[in-house]
Amino acid sequence: MDRILREGAFTGETHIVTGAAQGIGNRVATALALHGAQVVLVDLDAGRLAEAAEAMAPHAQVSPLTVAANVVDEADVQSAVATTLEATGAINGLVNVAGITRDARIAKKSFDDFKAVLAVHLHGTFLFTREVAAQHWHPLFKDNGNQPLDDGVNRFIVNFSSVSARNGNVGQVDYTAAKGAIESVTKTSAREFASYGARINAIAPGPVDTAMLAAVDEKGRAGMRRSTLLGRVAQPDEMAASVCAIADPKLFGYCTGQVFQVNAGMYLA
Ligand SMILES: NC(=O)c1ccc[n+]([C@@H]2O[C@H](COP(=O)([O-])OP(=O)(O)OC[C@H]3O[C@@H](n4cnc5c(N)ncnc54)[C@H](O)[C@@H]3O)[C@@H](O)[C@H]2O)c1
Repeated sequence: MDRILREGAFTGETHIVTGAAQGIGNRVATALALHGAQVVLVDLDAGRLAEAAEAMAPHAQVSPLTVAANVVDEADVQSAVATTLEATGAINGLVNVAGITRDARIAKKSFDDFKAVLAVHLHGTFLFTREVAAQHWHPLFKDNGNQPLDDGVNRFIVNFSSVSARNGNVGQVDYTAAKGAIESVTKTSAREFASYGARINAIAPGPVDTAMLAAVDEKGRAGMRRSTLLGRVAQPDEMAASVCAIADPKLFGYCTGQVFQVNAGMYLA
């Protein structure tokens, strides 16, 4: 992976990335680490995380930390954030990437699958957002006499929506509902966290070449390619580049509460 920003753009910062064992989360974490961040990789399985950290190490200026956690488990998330703070003393950034799909049309969708998809995307995003705020950013605000933090420290969250939040998608009533809700969480967090000096934004990707997309058959993938103006699916590194840009206060320091449509014109906002 090549650098996208100036060298050391995130040096001295700690960034948590969920869903970091593979796919988009893995490339996001690699890109942030390449620009100097201490990244904390969160995913379900410690073994896969260890492999991801080892593969990332040659690109990282600071060795990645790993925390195995289920983003839908409140105690896991509380402990992941506490562990990060113990190890690093501060959390600058959070990228909520972890996700699953359980595609089936509404008539055939099980309630268990519906709830599972809602939980990973929406509950996971809420829990990590709340814990970073509750354990770290809100105490900083209180220590500042309940005055807005204006300390020049980079603080951000990037959430992952999807183009399908606004377009809808057959078989994905749960997924699209969760992603729409994540866009709302993003806007409310932006309003609440502005006083923490934090910028909260989301990315709504189009189709990205990962295991999640591989679950769609070739006919479906061809249809997706045709639905984009650029006629192709994205590579995960293109999402990582977008996250780096939004995370960088020199590029997007005046931007919060936004949902970036990174989907090759599949949806025209
Ligand atoms: N791939 C696409 O076409 C596409 C398009 C739009 C949006 N997105 C979004 O991008 C994000 C990443 O997608 P991807 O394609 O890289 O998926 P992926 O399936 O390749 O990776 C998802 C990762 O999340 C982890 N994860 C799942 N449930 C978890 C849980 N409960 N706790 C912790 N980790 C968990 C998985 O173990 C996996 O490592 C998702 O939020 C997805 O909805 C993807």
